[in-house]
Amino acid sequence: MLASGRGSNLQALIAARDAGTLPVDLVAVGSDKDDAGALQLAKKAGIPTFSLDPKAFARRKDFDFELFRRLTATGAQALVLAGFMRIIDGAALAPWVGRMINIHPSLLPKYRGLHTHRRALDAGDTEHGASVHYVTAELDGGPVIAQARIDMVPGDDESALAQRLLGFEHQLLPAVLALMADGRIDFIAPNRVALDGKLLDAPLQLRNGTLVD
Ligand code: GAR
Repeated sequence: MLASGRGSNLQALIAARDAGTLPVDLVAVGSDKDDAGALQLAKKAGIPTFSLDPKAFARRKDFDFELFRRLTATGAQALVLAGFMRIIDGAALAPWVGRMINIHPSLLPKYRGLHTHRRALDAGDTEHGASVHYVTAELDGGPVIAQARIDMVPGDDESALAQRLLGFEHQLLPAVLALMADGRIDFIAPNRVALDGKLLDAPLQLRNGTLVD
């Protein structure tokens, strides 16, 4: 897993693993910030960590290739990005396409990039949500596997919305990773997802904690 920030999604994965609902070994957590909360959480849970400082590299892509070299060395079979706030070089990530997922706080394809909650509020949207998608070279553009939707409520501001959505992210990410661990989902190039060998026409939806087609 890669994270730049506090790591609440990592905590959700650890909790699901410990509860027996997520059949994975969490083999490493990496970050571009050596003070990321995610690294502290990982250490507390006994998961090996590493951090790499982007400033130590002359070019952005040198950092990215080193990052993926380190990840490959961990023996990880899959990679989860949760709050990893960097754009990754397309050539560096290419060997991981189909094995790498990202959680993004919007109903993609709406609001790729930053400030998703503010943009949804400014647009007057009546619903908002989070998406888990396969990572491709296109920023927040890979095929969406599953989404959690929430209604906007009167008085919502950016931080209230982010906080409310986060609770659903913590259900969505472990549920998608469990499908991946069970070998039930596949990336179908260039931009589709298959569940149990059947192409999905739309992302799975989180309802009452469960993913439905
Ligand atoms: C989450 O809300 C995640 O969706 C978002 O960062 C937060 C990380 O929280 N990701 C992005 O914005 C990616 N562009 P966490 O560190 O507590 O898991």
